[in-house]
Amino acid sequence: MWFRKIEEIRRFVRKRLKSSAHDYDHILRVDRISKFLLTGHSEADSDVIEVAVLLHDLFRVAEDTDKTDKIDHALKGAEFADGYLKKQKFKSDFISKVCHCIRVHRYRVGREKPETIEAKILFDSDKIDVLGAVGVARAFMVAGEYGERIYSDAEVEDYIKFNLKGGVLRGRIKDLKLHSPNLEFETKFKHIPDLLFTKEGRKIAKERIKFMENFFKQLKEEITG
Ligand SMILES: [Fe+2]
Ligand SMILES: [Fe+2]
Repeated sequence: MWFRKIEEIRRFVRKRLKSSAHDYDHILRVDRISKFLLTGHSEADSDVIEVAVLLHDLFRVAEDTDKTDKIDHALKGAEFADGYLKKQKFKSDFISKVCHCIRVHRYRVGREKPETIEAKILFDSDKIDVLGAVGVARAFMVAGEYGERIYSDAEVEDYIKFNLKGGVLRGRIKDLKLHSPNLEFETKFKHIPDLLFTKEGRKIAKERIKFMENFFKQLKEEITG
């Protein structure tokens, strides 16, 4: 029964996710990381996490392409998951746990934070997937999609002031043509380990940041050295 239900969700999600950085491969990677983090947390409900991982980014592309700036893929995703899982006859307690995970997987100042261990594990796993070698690959994929530069030598402090509405971490980029993966690293990725909830997640994130630091250092040397 569970296997049939989860297969159905997988099929549905695979068909829906097309964006390069938030495609089904992202879901599979987050799934793997979450399973690793779960090994240290036997109190967590792995079924809740599995379903939340599958459904967490369904509206990411809708948000990225929304000119009105009103779509929040975490809120919209949770709303959708609620109706979808009800139709699939999941229990209401299970559904509300999954929806909490999806709603809070993107942290915004002043908004609801991950309260449950399941939500914390989804949050950490999702953020870890923007770091390390995968993080570098994803950053350049996105850069290509939006016509960004390979490298920018803008001073980070200045850059934050002129092109990042809202500041470090969650600021919105005003002009994507002035953005680049190394600036994304300086203004966002570098700060991610401090946001994570699990000890194991923070450890992996810090290792991945070290790798990225070396990568961007080498990139700078090759371009400006
Ligand atoms: Fe997301
Ligand atoms: Fe995600």
